[in-house]
Amino acid sequence: MTPDHPIPPLEAAELAHVLRWYADMGVDAAVDEVPHDRFAESAAVTRQSQAPHASAPIGAAQAVSAHAVAPARSTPASVTASAQDAVLSAQDLAAGAKTLDALRAVLESFDGCGLKKTATQLCFADGNPQAKLMFVGEAPGADEDRQGKPFVGRAGQLLNRMVAAIGLAREDVYIANVVPWRPPGNRTPTPQETAICLPFVLRQIALVNPDIVMCLGGASAQTLLALKDGITKTRGRWHKLRIGGGDLPEREIAVMPTLHPAYLLRTPAHKRLAWQDFRAVAKALSGA
Ligand code: URA
Repeated sequence: MTPDHPIPPLEAAELAHVLRWYADMGVDAAVDEVPHDRFAESAAVTRQSQAPHASAPIGAAQAVSAHAVAPARSTPASVTASAQDAVLSAQDLAAGAKTLDALRAVLESFDGCGLKKTATQLCFADGNPQAKLMFVGEAPGADEDRQGKPFVGRAGQLLNRMVAAIGLAREDVYIANVVPWRPPGNRTPTPQETAICLPFVLRQIALVNPDIVMCLGGASAQTLLALKDGITKTRGRWHKLRIGGGDLPEREIAVMPTLHPAYLLRTPAHKRLAWQDFRAVAKALSGA
């Protein structure tokens, strides 16, 4: 815009069209007053991550696959120095939470993850804290953000049916996400956001102490198990997650990654693969 050629103000109907177009494109939250060039920011982060000091260990928990011991988990190379401070603070706070209620309270007051600003509320967990089976998804969507509970939308309804198919009710299992705040427009959480939230979900798993964790989707499996492979390679096989340490006994939990229910809604032909995974879990839970 220049003073010689000002852009005429938009009429209300035109503005409504623009807003509708934004919403259709997934832009449903105002994040800041000015635009950000995320491409330039991530290029700067990549340059910084090549500096020798850039990565630091993020915790005692490590993932081991059934076949090989995975390398110790460390913050992704793309995590900035300020995000590393947030990760360290998240580790301290998570380690100090002695109960699930305390962990929820810590998350309610934690300001280290920017997603908290755009989310309606914390989406901590649903289900039975004494469950033998725990599900971990990626991040809340719009329905979850509104209700403050994970997996309550269409994907959650499919999850309920899958749980019922192995003879359990939603109230028998415990459900959480790697990231407990909804990313605006349901975008994928950034590596920073995931790294900052990871200590909390690891502590959540340690406090629930289930026999089995099912990772719902590739993002959850890659994060919890520190794996690079996608879900088509990791699903259907048992992995192990080392959990606890410090004030809680250290132990390995069996982890079964499976396809995300939202993916299954789009690709119903693959439901049979998820069914195989759920059957393997049901068998393991029954001790057979
Ligand atoms: N997808 C997720 O990964 N988690 C939810 O809670 C809902 C949808």
